[in-house]
Amino acid sequence: MNPGELTPLTARQTGPLQGRVRVPGDKSISHRALILGALTVGETNIAGLLEGDDVLRTAEAMRGLGARVERVGEHTWRVHGVGVSGFAQPDRPLDFGNSGTGCRLAIGAVAGAPVTAIFDGDASLRSRPMQRVLDPLIKMGARVIEASESGRLPLTLQGAADPIPIVYEPPVASAQLKSAVLLAGLAAPGETTVIEAEATRDHTERLLKHFGARISSKPHGEHGRRIVLQGQPELEPANVLVPADPSSAAFPLIASLIVPGSDLVLEAVMTNPLRTGLLTTLREMGANIEALEKRDDGGEEVADLRVRTSVLKGVDVPAERAPSMIDEYPVLAVAASFAEGITRMRGLKELRVKESDRLAATADLLRANGVTVEIENDDLVVQGKGRPAGGGEVKTHMDHRIAMSALVMGLASENAVRIDDSAFIATSFPGFVELMRSVGADLT
Ligand code: S3P
Repeated sequence: MNPGELTPLTARQTGPLQGRVRVPGDKSISHRALILGALTVGETNIAGLLEGDDVLRTAEAMRGLGARVERVGEHTWRVHGVGVSGFAQPDRPLDFGNSGTGCRLAIGAVAGAPVTAIFDGDASLRSRPMQRVLDPLIKMGARVIEASESGRLPLTLQGAADPIPIVYEPPVASAQLKSAVLLAGLAAPGETTVIEAEATRDHTERLLKHFGARISSKPHGEHGRRIVLQGQPELEPANVLVPADPSSAAFPLIASLIVPGSDLVLEAVMTNPLRTGLLTTLREMGANIEALEKRDDGGEEVADLRVRTSVLKGVDVPAERAPSMIDEYPVLAVAASFAEGITRMRGLKELRVKESDRLAATADLLRANGVTVEIENDDLVVQGKGRPAGGGEVKTHMDHRIAMSALVMGLASENAVRIDDSAFIATSFPGFVELMRSVGADLT
């Protein structure tokens, strides 16, 4: 994606959003399925893979490390893996583009293999913190040969020939950090333990189990988990079915809540309890969201979500809910702008280190569209207006979620909302514009 060539897009007030749609596969599970497939000897088949730029970068990186990764049909991929510790020395830098998740997970996997790899990414990814993930991996025996300031990309990492298992308590609630340690721990003898003060998405743990690893996860403290992985397992190739991404579903879902007369069904959305903070919050705000046909799909709970336009009220969102909805705050802030009363979203420090400073970018998005919003310490406080004026020009800062959130605002605000660049939407939600138009959205 070339930030030099901007592709602006405008969203205008639109008639009711109606129909049934399925958003693309979950980004978190897609990255993990490719990486675990590469760490398993034999053939792993993946259905429903998200074919967004972020995930395609991970596929390419796994090729660079010696796995055979093939697209065999639409959203259907096959990985011939090389096994734990089996990565080959890459002959080119591994370029993760915009993707923090792909990069940090791959850093973890490489940390447990006797190879040296260069990790790089675009301007957004080069500005994001990597030291947090390097610290535990260095304790496990990996070495940073070269890095930019504070461990940032581009960086050269030498994996450990004999990784050491550790007991690790992440200083921030981060599924990427937890997953990097667990992936490195696959190659270590004995038990690698991660103790989370706040439970984060558990897709790595679920998939490791699915691939035959011995891993346990028990409650720890009020909101945490203690995860113990037995190292050096014989992973068995496994087929993976990737469910629809709740973080992508959030955009048409909130658009339907705020565009008058809407009635939309989002099919087979993953409802893993560590990802449903947004649904909990929206229901507290008065949203009419029905979960229909609850079922199990490839080891994850899914449901069809029927969403109807709703009168929303402001709420107080507790900090401990943040890990279960960390990517949904920008679009929740849009919903809060259409609510009556104040919404306070607490404990959003981690939003400052996403694809952009998302806390600042979300506040700017709202302000540009006539909404009163404050950042108070790590809280975002939005004064709901019923219906904001809109009319803003929003800078997206290479951040897909800011781009889509601004467009959702424009579908229901008084005046049109324009974003400077729509290119990065394809990192997580290829086909977003077409899907939204198919249910009635005016995006040009
Ligand atoms: C992800 C974890 C989250 C999230 C990201 C996906 C994952 O990041 O923001 O989009 O797949 O593990 P952190 O772990 O840094 O909170």
